Amino acid sequence: MRILSGIQPTGSMHIGSYIGAVSQWKKLQETGECLFFIADLHALTVPQDPKNFPGQVLQTAVELIAAGLDPEKCIIFIQSEVKEHTELCWLLNTLTPLGELERMTQYKDKSKQFKDSINAGLLNYPVLQAADILLYQVDSVPVGEDQKQHLELTKTLAKKFNQKYGKTFNVPEPLMLETGAKIMSLQNPKKKMSKSQPETCLFLFDEPEIIKKKIMSAVTDTGKSIKYNLEKKPGISNLLTIYSLVGQKSISELEKKFKNKGYGDFKKSLADLLILKLEPFRQKKKELLSREVYVKEILERGRKKAQFIAQATMQDVRKKMGLA
Ligand code: TYM
Repeated sequence: MRILSGIQPTGSMHIGSYIGAVSQWKKLQETGECLFFIADLHALTVPQDPKNFPGQVLQTAVELIAAGLDPEKCIIFIQSEVKEHTELCWLLNTLTPLGELERMTQYKDKSKQFKDSINAGLLNYPVLQAADILLYQVDSVPVGEDQKQHLELTKTLAKKFNQKYGKTFNVPEPLMLETGAKIMSLQNPKKKMSKSQPETCLFLFDEPEIIKKKIMSAVTDTGKSIKYNLEKKPGISNLLTIYSLVGQKSISELEKKFKNKGYGDFKKSLADLLILKLEPFRQKKKELLSREVYVKEILERGRKKAQFIAQATMQDVRKKMGLA
């Protein structure tokens, strides 16, 4: 079974990306042939500072390893270092109906958020994502719920290409957690926790005092009881989901544990749990930040392995499309 997924190097990793995506990657690397990459080309669809960007990319690699990706068990690489991604993106563009791209939720949201710089890259973003996936003939793509629409387009393009030019691509399936595929903002539990709004995020590498402060001030709901109810108690339900997945306890177990307790006790217990569980990640990140050469070697090894697979697919694609 071959697995692939990616993350943008836009700021530090938050608990949403960790739970929704990276925690799945950690499990999958134990059994599957896994490729995980840093989507630097996707990140350029919104303004980035070229001076800081290489540091951001490296930080993302450091954070992925600190959070538990094992370079001996999976391939980690940088998207832009495998040129086949952009080549396949162009070719897939010729099969992609413009209307499909215009109705993508992420495109609509981002073009509202970055009104002054709506570029064609934002629109074509999902085609590059399809190229990322189809290049590697993968079976599954472990992602959070926000990537569902992009994965649907990927499947559509794979099928369309196969129909037009003959079987070329594996048609991949998204892999999403039943609970945890959409962790919500700590400040507005009706909205997804998102790096584009850092003030709403709990970052994986936040210092203990910050974790405590953020959890204690997380928005909760009216009433007093610790009960999972997405409609009536979105704030507490979100915190219960985080507690359950980080603490590996079922939600009903937690409801029982906090039956006669108030929001304050519950939040304090969650903050203590997060501080304890995230401490090893924080330590590992510190250690890796002083081992830049080691991290760069991992990425170089990853590039070579990824490119080997990508080149084979591109050779086939070029031939099928009648390119020299
Ligand atoms: P990105 O960098 O926004 O997020 C990385 C992964 O984290 C998941 N995620 C979440 N899961 C649960 N709750 C949240 N609040 C939350 N926020 C983020 C995302 O769903 C994602 O799985 N377009 C992708 C990167 C990408 C990619 C790919 C992924 C580029 N090419 C090919 C898979 C395959 C993105 O922006 O992820």
